[in-house]
Amino acid sequence: MYLEKVLCRNFRNFNEVLLNLHPNLNIFIGANGQGKTNLLEAIYLMATADSHRTSVTSELINWEQKKALIQLKLEKRNGDLKLACKLSGSQKEVEINDNPLRKVNELLGYLNVVLFSPEDLKLVKEGPANRRKFIDLEISQVNPYYHHLSGKYDHILKQRNNLLKNLREKRFKSGKNTDISMLEIWDEQLIEIGTKIIKKRIEVIKKLKILARLAQRQITNGQENLQIEYESSLDGFNEKLKENETAVIFKQNLVNNRDKEIKRGYTVVGPHRADLMLKINKMDVRKFGSQGQQRTVALALKLAELEFMKSETGEYPVLLLDDVFSELDSSRRKTLLQIIADKIQTIITTTDMENMEGLRNNSYKIYHVNQGRITERG
Ligand SMILES: Nc1ncnc2c1ncn2[C@@H]1O[C@H](COP(=O)(O)OP(=O)(O)OP(=O)(O)O)[C@@H](O)[C@H]1O
Ligand SMILES: [Mg+2]
Repeated sequence: MYLEKVLCRNFRNFNEVLLNLHPNLNIFIGANGQGKTNLLEAIYLMATADSHRTSVTSELINWEQKKALIQLKLEKRNGDLKLACKLSGSQKEVEINDNPLRKVNELLGYLNVVLFSPEDLKLVKEGPANRRKFIDLEISQVNPYYHHLSGKYDHILKQRNNLLKNLREKRFKSGKNTDISMLEIWDEQLIEIGTKIIKKRIEVIKKLKILARLAQRQITNGQENLQIEYESSLDGFNEKLKENETAVIFKQNLVNNRDKEIKRGYTVVGPHRADLMLKINKMDVRKFGSQGQQRTVALALKLAELEFMKSETGEYPVLLLDDVFSELDSSRRKTLLQIIADKIQTIITTTDMENMEGLRNNSYKIYHVNQGRITERG
């Protein structure tokens, strides 16, 4: 798939930006604070129904305006599509081919993107929440049902945690063990939805780890072997368990941690506590990897995500590269450009062209971004 046209009206620091994009490479050059990331944010929003920078919709609207609009024309294998998102105050409305959708989340699955930005180093280096978000978002983009499951799980978890807090207080006041029958009802729901989430994650990671291993070898000339494993928080869990067996293990874990959970007032086991183990040549790269190794692993994960989406949907997503060329060495830059050449529409932002020396073999368009105005270089 590729984006043919992008219109941003009153989005962030734009007044009116209309772009006719190149089907392969699009390079946006501009100094700091001119609107490069804003453009990527607008596109990302159309893929995921969320901004990657803020959860506050009103921040996306130009300070001097009340409403904003993003409109995209998307070319897909089976025809073209018009996507629109209208922002007004804290409201978001979305349309596909001029037909309004009931819920914003129904936008998921039409435009697929992979965003890679310097912040993605967090994916490797920082806490497990970043890695869970990566895997969940990746699945959600190609499987909106998973997105629904994951929302439902969060809701159940919140209710269950509230109840645990109540039980903690009651026990504290009375000094006695309290009635846990309500908790058992929440347990069942948590297990039912949680088990589905775990199974889907395992299925996806199985594919992803092969793709990421290949990508890592490609970027490092075969020097580094990347190994990815799902780290469950459940005692006794292994990947070979069937769905009903996983449910039994999940239940056992909840029962075994009953006391601890009431003492702490929150749920201590479940897919919301899982992680991804990332190893290079047997070393835990999350903890011990050098900055460059961690960056390479982040890149390998993103490249694996591209291939994964291709395998799920039949076409490559649009790749958004926010200012990452300056962070990669020249051989990694070259490999990256080779991978995307002529097959993946890519939108690159950069502050200067210095790092783009490997471009010779690609066809591309260059744009200048200056104070919210974008002009195509003739
Ligand atoms: N709601 C808004 N209305 C108007 N301007 C905004 C709004 N939100 C952010 N901005 C402006 O947008 C600019 C930031 O744009 P952006 O993050 O796209 O910069 P950039 O070109 O990516 O810069 P860098 O190279 O530093 O990453 C800032 O100058 C900020 O003041
Ligand atoms: Mg930026």
